[in-house]
Amino acid sequence: MAKEKSVYVCTECGGTSPKWLGKCPSCGAWNTLIEQVAAPASAGGGQNRFGTQFAALAGASELAVLSEIEASDVARTPTGLDELDRVLGGGIVAGGVTLIGGDPGIGKSTLLLQAADALQNAGQLALYVTGEESGAQVAMRARRLGLERSQVQVMAEIQLEKILATLDANRPAIAVIDSIQTVYSDQLTSAPGSVAQVRECAAHLTRFAKASGTAVVLVGHVTKEGALAGPRVLEHMVDTVLYFEGDTHSSFRLVRAIKNRFGAVNEIGVFAMTERGLRGVANPSAIFLSQHSEPVPGSVVLVTLEGTRPMLVEIQALVDDGGPSPRRLSVGLERDRLAMLLAVLHRHAGVACMDQDVFVNAVGGVRITEPAADLAVMLAIASSLRGKPLPKGFIAFGEVGLAGEVRPAPRGQERLKEAAKLGFSVAIVPKANAPKKGAIEGLTIHAVERIEQALDAVRGLE
Ligand code: TYD
Ligand code: MG
Repeated sequence: MAKEKSVYVCTECGGTSPKWLGKCPSCGAWNTLIEQVAAPASAGGGQNRFGTQFAALAGASELAVLSEIEASDVARTPTGLDELDRVLGGGIVAGGVTLIGGDPGIGKSTLLLQAADALQNAGQLALYVTGEESGAQVAMRARRLGLERSQVQVMAEIQLEKILATLDANRPAIAVIDSIQTVYSDQLTSAPGSVAQVRECAAHLTRFAKASGTAVVLVGHVTKEGALAGPRVLEHMVDTVLYFEGDTHSSFRLVRAIKNRFGAVNEIGVFAMTERGLRGVANPSAIFLSQHSEPVPGSVVLVTLEGTRPMLVEIQALVDDGGPSPRRLSVGLERDRLAMLLAVLHRHAGVACMDQDVFVNAVGGVRITEPAADLAVMLAIASSLRGKPLPKGFIAFGEVGLAGEVRPAPRGQERLKEAAKLGFSVAIVPKANAPKKGAIEGLTIHAVERIEQALDAVRGLE
């Protein structure tokens, strides 16, 4: 293929430069030039700064009145893995593009190979493009998964143009690109894995998906900071973004939808990594609890709501004498929120941690983003600071505001019922979440409106 010239375009002002420069020649911003394929220039027609030719485009698209367009529900093909289908909103969608991110070794390739095989068995053509591993390595994984007779088509290739040509010739129902960071296009001089390459390749694959009806799944690596490499450049381009979460030291893995044009967001799928691949966990509510034979200080069980299912997660806090600049560290919870909660604890409940290191952790590598975790985090911190455990069978949830008020969490009744079902017996929850009439069998509920009331209630339980 003839090599087209590439240009460097400023992400700030849209100015261009024929070669890479640290500083944009047009607006003077630093590090904003990103390589792009230059649109071929043709005779006539003004070019705007993005290289589009008005003359060639004029009159090309048809208009339709919104009310006259038939709204059709998207058809989904179940992958055969129930937990994956749950996060996808029922299955893969023809022409849909899914990005799946996660730490190395967490199970992305395993999950997609299993899904590709299940689809192939259901009579769909599945094509697996491997850029990170050789065909032999993929075959070895397949053996391990018990898929030695798999009919999935495998291609070890990293050049975009060849991948697109093969996809076009075969028109599979699903194409897995493992991973997008290894794919490169001839049209750009930037290195594979660079923002320019990742964006360009993903854009071409997306266009192919839309034009052909092939469902494309892009595997993406996550940087240390937790963002998909190439500063989230792909998230807006694709239809669905899934992230793998979980601690590689434990066997449980969560797949979370953070964007889904075809389904609900924040739905999660739960898997266990076994000797023979990933297995769905249909009833995951109790998997993130550690087993303490006696209650320990600094541990509180939170009932969190992930997607449509309540789950119980142990929140641990450790408060210890700090140096001149005490540390605040959190794993699985937001650090900024932790700083805020410490300020609220001090101001409204007189619990001072200014000269203390504070560490908090959500057990099992889950990431908790909902503010309903606040109360559990604060009670865990107070418990660690005082060295007093909470009673056996204790749970909590509720959001805490800057004024020290305890706000209700969505779907409180469901959370309480799940806790009772798993044998928990004492709860401190926001007043608005306490059952209005009747009780939940086996559960003693302390309803609170303020953080200081919650701490008083804890003292009453000791
Ligand atoms: P993999 O799917 O290669 O991760 P990723 O593509 O996200 O980098 O998963 C690799 C890990 O999973 C590796 O540590 C081995 C483990 N594993 C199992 O425990 N059981 C299995 O059946 C398979 C295939 C992998
Ligand atoms: Mg992999």
